[in-house]
Amino acid sequence: MKNIEWSKLTFGYSKTDYNIRCYYRDGKWGELEISSSENIPLHMAATSLHYGQEAFEGLKAFCGKDNKIRVFRWEENHQRMVNSAQGILMPEVPKEIFWGACKKVIELNRDYVPPYGHGASFYLRPLLIGTGAQVGVKAANEYLFMVFGVPVGPYFKEGFKPVNIQIVRDADRAAPLGTGVYKVGGNYAASLSSGERAHKEGFSAALYLDAKEKKYIDECGPANFFGIKNNTYVTPLSTSILPSITNKSLMVLAEDMGLKVERRPIPVTELSEFSECGACGTAAVISPIGKIVDSQNDGKEYVFSKDGKAGSISTQLYERLLGIQYGEMEDKFKWNTLVD
Ligand code: PLP
Ligand code: COI
Repeated sequence: MKNIEWSKLTFGYSKTDYNIRCYYRDGKWGELEISSSENIPLHMAATSLHYGQEAFEGLKAFCGKDNKIRVFRWEENHQRMVNSAQGILMPEVPKEIFWGACKKVIELNRDYVPPYGHGASFYLRPLLIGTGAQVGVKAANEYLFMVFGVPVGPYFKEGFKPVNIQIVRDADRAAPLGTGVYKVGGNYAASLSSGERAHKEGFSAALYLDAKEKKYIDECGPANFFGIKNNTYVTPLSTSILPSITNKSLMVLAEDMGLKVERRPIPVTELSEFSECGACGTAAVISPIGKIVDSQNDGKEYVFSKDGKAGSISTQLYERLLGIQYGEMEDKFKWNTLVD
């Protein structure tokens, strides 16, 4: 076991011992290779560098009280990476290569997987990049798929405490028929400056609206949005947001708890009707939202928590999700894959 202060971990990069790589050349995937280097030798004309031909994923492995390691819904992440690859003309990573690499990274870095009881997990970052050289705007003919892992703590420093969010009106993250549904780097580049401004102005994340009408809620920095009202879990239906696996899971859990679930466009004006709101994602888990400020529109404020505490439905969803992930509750929907 490594000498790491597990409870103090934040969501950041740290070195582990090994990562796994697999090259696509001459129209086929090679074998999984183990590497102990943090660097990638890359052609200066690689399409990933110039034309953003790259996609990534994020999924977590959890160590339970029983010391077993469970990976949450990796097949969903695999499918989303296949969709991203199709979206920007990259070869699909076969399922067995995707899982083989994830599993190996966990096994080879077993000592970096946070032990049970510290609120930490092992975050896997699969990455698919165009490595072949092009100068014209074209897809590469060579690719690298790799997976590395890092022990992580909460994405927002608040943990499971309400965060404040800023609505962005002078920038868009993704266009209605653009790449927002894919997990590709360009979407994140487009969010950097508004995200940074939100942080500088004291907010945890930026809330993006639909690019066409600026009327509906899209998503919340690196996470999907949900609101609760009248015993209903409401989450945006949009062609420019990432289909979150956490959100998909929360919809199932909400229904299981007896809530109604609605997936539909959510007008910003409806914010005043929600009793609870949250941001959800692999990194963010559930971050309850305390306040949303429409800074560029008269500074209107929507307040969901006045006492610094999460609402009861968000809390129950959070406990159920983590309960399953850490193996403390029955894995009723067969979401976990055991590694050990
Ligand atoms: N939206 C964006 C833009 C994200 O980067 C993420 C993180 O992956 C999510 C939503 C949440 O998706 P998931 O729950 O699959 O992690
Ligand atoms: C995730 O939740 O896995 C993400 O990818 C979010 C992020 C840090 C980009």
